[in-house]
Amino acid sequence: MVGFADDVVGPPGVIQAALTDFAGLVTARLCTLAEGMPGSLRSPVVALANRQGKCLRAMLLGACARLGVAEQSRLVRLGALVELLHLASLLHDDVIDRADTRRGAPAAHVMVGEERAMLAGLACFATAGMEAAAIGSGVDRIVGKAVARLSYGELLDVERAFDTSLAIPDYLELAERKTGELFRLSCMLGAAASGAAEPAIRVVGQFGADFGVAFQILDDCLDFSAQLDGKPTGIDHVMGLFGAPTLCALAADDSGQLAALLLSPEFSHGQLPAVRALVAANGGVATATRLARSRYDQAVGALGVLADSDAGGAVELLVAVTAAFWRARR
Ligand code: FPP
Ligand code: MG
Repeated sequence: MVGFADDVVGPPGVIQAALTDFAGLVTARLCTLAEGMPGSLRSPVVALANRQGKCLRAMLLGACARLGVAEQSRLVRLGALVELLHLASLLHDDVIDRADTRRGAPAAHVMVGEERAMLAGLACFATAGMEAAAIGSGVDRIVGKAVARLSYGELLDVERAFDTSLAIPDYLELAERKTGELFRLSCMLGAAASGAAEPAIRVVGQFGADFGVAFQILDDCLDFSAQLDGKPTGIDHVMGLFGAPTLCALAADDSGQLAALLLSPEFSHGQLPAVRALVAANGGVATATRLARSRYDQAVGALGVLADSDAGGAVELLVAVTAAFWRARR
């Protein structure tokens, strides 16, 4: 039995209901796994897990499992595993980025302190490792490899701070590692659990990686829109972390004004309106949005090789899940 109801590729309401059910099972499993953690680490994990998360990675895993046949209980375990890894990365990332809020509420480190927030992240990571080993079938090896790549992506993100001339291809590589890797893993785990053939597993893995890059670019664009998802606006600029719209604007700004502003020793929150104005004047958000769109279209186009096989349902569902996300972000 697959993770979603068989009639999931149907009217939007039906799709939505099946996805919500699966996300609910994944979140419940995640909270069960968290019960093994000491109380002071468990509470930030459970609080974050229950906070308006969309379980997007688990959804993609479930969609890819329609390439073949998979047991629902195995998919729920795998879904919880990727969501645990996601929580681990967020708990650490919010400390690294000095972000005060996450999913519309105070970040874990604001609530319980940096030490406990980071240890809670490690507990998630360790629990995911134990779960991967318990699931078997080489899941621990593929998870270990993916986490190594995503950690390296985060390191690249830290190391490029204040680099106003970071080339867009370098940013895209960083985004593929930092964000695309977990989507790649999710798609590959779902496909592999369903017994899909190796080439199909690779195709959906690449879809996940490309979707992840588009996702990250749109996430960066959120810094320039009204406050959505409880994301703090503009803090990354003060940290020297310039997202896709700013990098696109920097590349287009022949006057050098934007780079000079971002690198000025007195730069602080007070200058963020000026940054926004310069990014807008240089078409940063529009260029970044086009970049995300073309990466997403490329990702969907590459799924075409699967369309003639029995994989039609999986492809339709992957496109439905990601397109719904796309519409919500724009
Ligand atoms: C969010 O980016 C951060 C990531 C996508 C990756 C974070 C990875 C680590 C901290 C490596 C350690 C990983 C594990 C599993 C222990 P962002 O800051 O651009 O997005 P945001 O706006 O959501 O914070
Ligand atoms: Mg962050």
